[in-house]
Amino acid sequence: MTIAPPIPGGPDDAADALRARLPSGFVPRAALVLGSGLGGIADRIEDAVAIPYGQIPGFFPPGVHGHAGRLVFGRLAGIDVAVMQGRKHTYEGLPSSAVTTPIRTLKLLGCSLLVLTCAAGSLRTEVGPGRLMMVTDHINMQGTSVLVGPNDERFGPRFPPLLDAWDPAMNARIRAAAAAEGIALTEGVYAAWLGPAFETPAEVRMLKMLGGDAVGMSMVQECLAARHCGLTVCGLAAITNLGVGLSPDPVNHDQTLEGAKLAAGDLERLLLRVLGGLA
Ligand code: HPA
Repeated sequence: MTIAPPIPGGPDDAADALRARLPSGFVPRAALVLGSGLGGIADRIEDAVAIPYGQIPGFFPPGVHGHAGRLVFGRLAGIDVAVMQGRKHTYEGLPSSAVTTPIRTLKLLGCSLLVLTCAAGSLRTEVGPGRLMMVTDHINMQGTSVLVGPNDERFGPRFPPLLDAWDPAMNARIRAAAAAEGIALTEGVYAAWLGPAFETPAEVRMLKMLGGDAVGMSMVQECLAARHCGLTVCGLAAITNLGVGLSPDPVNHDQTLEGAKLAAGDLERLLLRVLGGLA
């Protein structure tokens, strides 16, 4: 599938174009990125204004099955939010701006918090499909970074630190919210795999040995772009399958979407409780 190029422009153009379509004075505090099969919470947004990526300068239109491709603004659990339904992945081979422009646009619009979600394979056999993993740290196995290239000093430093990239204070809130909702939250290290092929069984064993708890093909590049420009970041991975070779079941995209359905309800309740706590 080919991806159409975006309307030309960068984060400033995108922010201007979006402000022109939002109620005057609307400032999203938190942004959410919804992963494969996890877009449902967007239906809960009140006074929603949905804008397809194809209408936003610098935003690439959608490509992958399961990803909608629109930015939805409105109120969720009492706070003003911007929700990205659909994202760009490193394996799509797009310029870094496919990831950095949306994140920097959210920053320009006034967001201070970025909540990332994704589907992921578990590297721990005791954590199966349907479970949620809160990200405490990551390992970037994608061999690249959206921050490679000239640094835009306007947004952040050349060498951004990644200590506490996944915000401990937000994670404490998520932990408390999960306990209050009776959700069996697990925590761990997210290993980002380049894809688009799933891992081999040997690669799954390697990622586990390196300290990964779950593996997926997203979130980390968004985290890099967001930490660079000073957004607070937290992440929740919906475990959709056991890593390749850890169970006899095949791993494929359809199964990922099926697995996401198992976790979607808990994810929605957890996110609403966390956002409500910020209101
Ligand atoms: N590997 C990589 N990405 C994934 C997986 C997996 O097992 N499951 C969902 N996304």
